[in-house]
Amino acid sequence: MKNVSFIYLILGFASLATACKSRVNPQTKNISATTEKLNTRYKMLLDYPVDSMSMPRSMNIKTLEIRKVPSRDWTSGFFAGNLWQLYRLTGDSKYKEQAQKWTPFSKKESVNSNSHDVGFKVFCSFGEALKVENKKEYEAVIVKGAETLCKRFNPKVGSIRSWDFNKEIWDFPVIIDNMMNLELLFEASKISGNPKYRNVAIQHANTTLKNQFREDNSCYHVIDYNPTTGTVRKKTTLQGYNDDSVWARGQAWAVYGFTMSYRYTKDPAYLNQAEGTAHYFMANKNLPEDGIPYWDFKDPSIPNAPRDVSAAMVMASGLYELYTYTHNKNYLAFADRLMASVQTDQYILDTQIKAPFLFDHSTGNWPKHDEIDEPIIYADYYFLEALIKGQRLKGSK
Ligand code: GLY
Repeated sequence: MKNVSFIYLILGFASLATACKSRVNPQTKNISATTEKLNTRYKMLLDYPVDSMSMPRSMNIKTLEIRKVPSRDWTSGFFAGNLWQLYRLTGDSKYKEQAQKWTPFSKKESVNSNSHDVGFKVFCSFGEALKVENKKEYEAVIVKGAETLCKRFNPKVGSIRSWDFNKEIWDFPVIIDNMMNLELLFEASKISGNPKYRNVAIQHANTTLKNQFREDNSCYHVIDYNPTTGTVRKKTTLQGYNDDSVWARGQAWAVYGFTMSYRYTKDPAYLNQAEGTAHYFMANKNLPEDGIPYWDFKDPSIPNAPRDVSAAMVMASGLYELYTYTHNKNYLAFADRLMASVQTDQYILDTQIKAPFLFDHSTGNWPKHDEIDEPIIYADYYFLEALIKGQRLKGSK
């Protein structure tokens, strides 16, 4: 049976690279015990009290302190989304009741145009709610959110502006993560019949396709544009190791984002890009045996760099969908491998730790020394999503 390795880092290390030394050790597997552990962890989401002011985002694994965030944080839709997905997986009405209580938490973000994250905030909560309950009020929030997101679209650039901070460095930053927000736009057009949202999504995806990828199909994190001429000013990063490195979660956002965009458009260029970036990830020489990537494929401290379970889970969910369009069994097998790897003692958060999270070992923002090798809520969200997709695929075989 696997043991979670909590070999915490020797205090006093001066460099971040050393301080981020991996806590993941290769282990063996016991399926029934790990399923029981996951079930125990699922139930802990029910114990977490509904708080209209803050949502659990991550946990400092050393102090066990839970980091809570207000609705304006980009992660604010995930907790409701996790509860809706647990309801779909288990059929237990307790998850549904708790999901109904948490869903309004991110509602006011549907009119907050301060960042592109309205897609994450609104769609991961209200979008999940709509899969369970066909309510007009959920649809209205999604359409309102899409309207808000479109305010950040610049037709000259052909993109939605991601962030408003760092104005002294960037004029019009667009990050690869922004592909994920397009699902809100595509769905809003389906709900409302208004093609505007879908058209914005397509223009954004086309601009991303043109500028965000390297020859080898890896992607840059941030492209900065001139908002007047639409030309590229810089190809850079915020969350990667450096401008030329390959941030693992960014690659996963690209695979998922272009696969999802193919779902709505059937544009073969999107499928082609999703496949190219998936191959980059899957065949990378720096990918560990269990498939859970280091946080950046080019961190020179590999194999002592921290892993990122969240990148693996976004990838698993994206690959299950990519398989349905390509029928390439390598995608199915790789997603299955990622799902098998995380459902082990090595990655499931120790059940002695009372917290509303499922997995340890995600990395949020390494350059900022923030959320390194810890439980982070969006890893759980994309795990649950991938679990549902994988079960459906196998059930339909
Ligand atoms: N901005 C989303 C992320 O950190 O991946």
